[in-house]
Amino acid sequence: MMIGITGASGPLGRATAELVLQAVDPRDVVLTSRRPEALADFAARGARTRHADFDDAQTVRTALAGVDRLLLISTDAIGSRLDQQQAAVSAAAEAGVSHIAYTSVPAPVPANPALVVADHAGTEQALRESGLRWTMLRNNLYAHLQVSVVERAIASGRLVTNSGSGAAAYVTREDCAAAAAAVLTRDGFENRVLDITGPEAVSALDLLRLARGIGGRDVELVDADDHAFALGLKEAGLPEPFSELVTSFGASTRGGFLAHVSGAVAELTGRDPKRFEDVVRAAGKS
Ligand SMILES: NC(=O)c1ccc[n+]([C@@H]2O[C@H](COP(=O)([O-])OP(=O)(O)OC[C@H]3O[C@@H](n4cnc5c(N)ncnc54)[C@H](OP(=O)(O)O)[C@@H]3O)[C@@H](O)[C@H]2O)c1
Repeated sequence: MMIGITGASGPLGRATAELVLQAVDPRDVVLTSRRPEALADFAARGARTRHADFDDAQTVRTALAGVDRLLLISTDAIGSRLDQQQAAVSAAAEAGVSHIAYTSVPAPVPANPALVVADHAGTEQALRESGLRWTMLRNNLYAHLQVSVVERAIASGRLVTNSGSGAAAYVTREDCAAAAAAVLTRDGFENRVLDITGPEAVSALDLLRLARGIGGRDVELVDADDHAFALGLKEAGLPEPFSELVTSFGASTRGGFLAHVSGAVAELTGRDPKRFEDVVRAAGKS
């Protein structure tokens, strides 16, 4: 069986490719990227590396020839990637792919205010309607992206949040990669929706306790509404689209859409996912 990974030069793609190459014959692995030259190290180990850009469906059809099971990594063109990803699903089907695993988001429902939801919901729908087998890998928020929240709180003595009393089951990118690699290399995950989460849901109060514990100082919790929170991020120098995105994840957390903790990482990988506290403490040592 030939295994494929799109977007294989990105951090998640590379980490997944690494694990897949440890599990199967590299000649049975097709890695695609807009920049296949960035995959030269994998090619040197025997993997087939090919050019594919979702903006050009013909490149996807050509690159995926012979692939049976594919990890389709969502692109970073938030808000404009639905067309790209629908085209990629169609092109993969035309190329003869039989099973697609897709990196989605938890709770891709209209009520979820996270700005990424529409792209992911639309792509999940395209997969369900494609006639192919699918696996939804609904990755929670990456844990490493939250480390700076704790670090800023320690530095400033204030933890500003718009997530209220909500919590999110932050997961490491390494655990997302291990879960994806398992779906690619083992049978039995067809037509399953898998929430890829850390081992616990982490609230702003948990972040506060962590900041106080690690920083050894008092840290004040500041509850902000979405408008004030987004404004604060913009004033701190974040580009507007990014501050809107981060604010929407806070609102999503507040609404409970990111709180579900699943056993999927343990089921897929045979080991527990990494705890958020351990991620933060390890970042402080590096
Ligand atoms: N759960 C989270 O907290 C979280 C955070 C950030 C991102 N994400 C999502 O997870 C995905 C993988 O993230 P990452 O951690 O590896 O970081 P990343 O740097 O955001 O990865 C970007 C990915 O998009 C691919 N891509 C961009 N434009 C493309 C196109 N036109 N055609 C095909 N592929 C395209 C890139 O592939 P090539 O460059 O190899 O072509 C690469 O795999 C992201 O794209 C995003 O959808 C999730």
